[in-house]
Order: sequence, then C-alpha cells, then structure tokens
Amino acid sequence: MALKFVSYMSSQSRVMSKKSIEEFLFQVREKNKLLTITGVLLLIQGKFVQYIEGPEEEITDVYESISNDHRHTDMILLDSGDLEERQFKDWSMAYKEVSDKQVKGIIGDEELNLEDIFLNSKDHDYHPVLKVLYDFVKTLSS
Ligand SMILES: Cc1cc2nc3c(=O)[nH]c(=O)nc-3n(C[C@H](O)[C@H](O)[C@H](O)COP(=O)(O)O)c2cc1C
Repeated sequence: MALKFVSYMSSQSRVMSKKSIEEFLFQVREKNKLLTITGVLLLIQGKFVQYIEGPEEEITDVYESISNDHRHTDMILLDSGDLEERQFKDWSMAYKEVSDKQVKGIIGDEELNLEDIFLNSKDHDYHPVLKVLYDFVKTLSS
C-alpha cells in the first residue's frame, strides 16, 4: 500500500475556544483512526501548520475535505510526496499550540513570519518549523 504525506499551512478563520478545539480534535482523531492517517497539527500565532501521512487515497480525500473547511483560509501547500515509513505512527493527530514565548525561544524573535520561513527560506539545512516539531517531540518523550 503506497504511503503519502502532505503538509500545508493556513490561517485560522477565527479563534476557537478550548472546548471547540477539543471537540474538533476528537472528531479529527476518530476519522484519522478509521482511515489510518497519522500526523501533527501545530497552531502558531493564528496559523495552522499540519503534516498528515497515510494511504495515498485517504490522504488525497482528507486533504480535499480539509481544503474545503471554513475554519481556516489561505491554505498553502508546503510539501507532499511518497513515504517509505511513517514519521508519526503513534499519533492519530498530535496537537500543539505554540505560544509566543516558545516562538521566541526557538526563533529568537517574537514575530514569526511563517510565509517567509517556508516560502522564501534559502537555508534548507535549518528549518525552524522542523525545530518546533522536534522540540515538541522531545517534550512528549521527556
Ligand atoms: C486545520 C484543520 C485540520 C484538519 N485535519 C484533519 C485531519 O487530519 N483529518 C480529518 O479527517 N479531518 C481534518 N480536518 C477536518 C476536515 O476539514 C473535515 O471537517 C473532516 O474531515 C470531516 O469531513 P466529512 O464531514 O466530509 O467527513 C481538519 C480541519 C482543519 C480546519
């Protein structure tokens, strides 16, 4: 079975309450479990950054659903492709809201311009959002 991944960023349409985020994550995780989709969703300064991985057809279908979801706008596809093995096999959708303070700790600046980082970055060896992800993983395992 071919495995595929997709990552994108988008802007949250409106601030969601803690309760609506919990309900949203519950639904997303239940559906992902059924479809064997795994991944990570970050919320950083009003922007979602999501990475999903799973069987090719399911990823294509869910990405289509996500694209039509009014809870966010201005989706920008960051990367997609084939996978040999899953990166986040235990997570039906890990979620992390990254605070401004954490952004400063990671980037050294409170203003994180994700568009600049993703779309205009010439430095491919150092990717701040990957650092966010790795730091997040470390906090889970420590
Ligand atoms: C930022 C964001 C991330 C989402 N991630 C997923 C996801 O990983 N899996 C999923 O099934 N739905 C995800 N959704 C929800 C889908 O857009 C959609 O509401 C859901 O798949 C239900 O679609 P359906 O009613 O057509 O089954 C996400 C929505 C948003 C706004």
